[in-house]
Amino acid sequence: MKHRAVNRRSVVIGLGAAAGAAAVGGITLTAQAENTGGTDSAGTSADGSLVFDRDDFTKKTESIADASGTEHSVTYRFYKARDYVTHPSDSGHQSLVVSVPVTIDGKAVDASNAPIVLANAVGAYMPSTVADATGVGQAKLEMTGMGGGTGDPMPSGMPSGGTGGGMAGGTGAVNGMVNLAKLALVAGYVVVEPGTRGRSLTDSSGTYYGTAPAVIVDLKAAVRYLRANKGRVPGNVERIVSTGTSAGGASSALLGASGDSEIYEPYLRQAGAADASDAIFATGAWCPITDLEHADGAYEWNWGTLPTQSTGKTVDQNVSKELRSQFAEYQASLNLRGLKGSRFGKITARNYADYLLEHYLRPSATKYLAALPASERETYLAENTFITWQNDRAVFTWEGYLAHVARRKKTQPAFDAFDLSAGENNEFGEGTTKARHFTAYSARNDTTGLSGKRVDSDIPEKLKLMNPMFHLLEERNPHRSRHWWIRLGTSDTDTALTVAANLAMAVDNLGDEVDHAYYWDKGHATNEDPGDFFKWVAEVTGHKS
Ligand code: DHB
Repeated sequence: MKHRAVNRRSVVIGLGAAAGAAAVGGITLTAQAENTGGTDSAGTSADGSLVFDRDDFTKKTESIADASGTEHSVTYRFYKARDYVTHPSDSGHQSLVVSVPVTIDGKAVDASNAPIVLANAVGAYMPSTVADATGVGQAKLEMTGMGGGTGDPMPSGMPSGGTGGGMAGGTGAVNGMVNLAKLALVAGYVVVEPGTRGRSLTDSSGTYYGTAPAVIVDLKAAVRYLRANKGRVPGNVERIVSTGTSAGGASSALLGASGDSEIYEPYLRQAGAADASDAIFATGAWCPITDLEHADGAYEWNWGTLPTQSTGKTVDQNVSKELRSQFAEYQASLNLRGLKGSRFGKITARNYADYLLEHYLRPSATKYLAALPASERETYLAENTFITWQNDRAVFTWEGYLAHVARRKKTQPAFDAFDLSAGENNEFGEGTTKARHFTAYSARNDTTGLSGKRVDSDIPEKLKLMNPMFHLLEERNPHRSRHWWIRLGTSDTDTALTVAANLAMAVDNLGDEVDHAYYWDKGHATNEDPGDFFKWVAEVTGHKS
């Protein structure tokens, strides 16, 4: 497949932006409008084009904790929400904010060529917004209007109901989650926070306009906006590093994998995205909920024998077995080899448990236990006898690990629910149809009577638009990002461990640099090593702070 071969519509980027960065005065402790010209109240530029007005910012000073918890006084330019497309179906979501550090603890920071951290706030494939943000790290995830079915649990690690905090929002940790936007700013990076459409959005006629592929179209449009404004937008647009967690991790991975793929062209054109590349430099993805059309099988392979959290009951083992055999077939077809240096060769359903144990699970437990004071380690080991501590290493079996995790979060099938109740069914909604099947197996086993026992004809293309594995394995996309940070909690049963591990192998096998590790005993949407992440960002981008 050729990339960028199509003739993209040319979006005129006006030349109206001021020639130099605004000279602004001293540090203020409260928000202070320095310049309000150039944009209207909705944040679109006055001429309707996609020019980034670099004088349209507010100077702010905030105390922000770095990854180790030390507070710093950060003065930064805050560029309030502005549309990143010329024809937003919804500018409440298709807009972004930019934060640029000026001084940290009184010391000047020159971020003019710093990497740009593109921190999405996507969760549960729901909409996220920065429309009302007045500072960094205030993106809101809109969790209202989620389906109430059993297959659509409120993802743990998220604030319940309404807006407020979101994946990247709040003042700091939300159920253990960190605010990557704030951490990026205090680390000296330019921070861009995009809003994105999500699956719950409907227009006045009841049409769903935020379902697949809206989230990725929006993220790509945001990247194109930044690249089209090279030289105007602060930071180095050739060094965009994307971050996201869960559905946001999936979207971040997809953004990294699908750079400049032409399959999004009609959607980007329709939205009025800038005529520029949407390739990014590096990708951070925490617990990516991706490869959705294969995730039901993977889930049963991984967690199929565990009782369900909500009911305490084991799921139908016949269905589990059928799904598991689909996974075995799929996994074999991928032809993935264990990460560099792995003794495992091709990873299949047969050796996958051992591969996970050796590469990720035991090292994760070892790291956790080694860091504990001896007495606490003893206590932990006494309470968790499935682990033996041998030569300063944690040793345990797959069965021991599964019994330790104890419960699966999701019902069965986990993603394409027979009754269309999963959030992902809604993500593949279309027109006025809220939820649809996206796997042949669940369409065949549909219990709602709504569907024709087959997936709709547009589904295969939608799956490609949403799956990084398509871009990596089928397209071997040369415009993908080449640096990958992938993290997952060992107790995260929102999807199978294989989803992240396959993503890591796919990029590794293509020759990309990948840092993949697991947080011991941590659940969904956790981020235990943001300090290391920003060190990694500095390393891969060559950034010197
Ligand atoms: C998220 C969690 C899920 O379990 C899921 O199926 C989709 C998204 C999330 O936390 O974003």
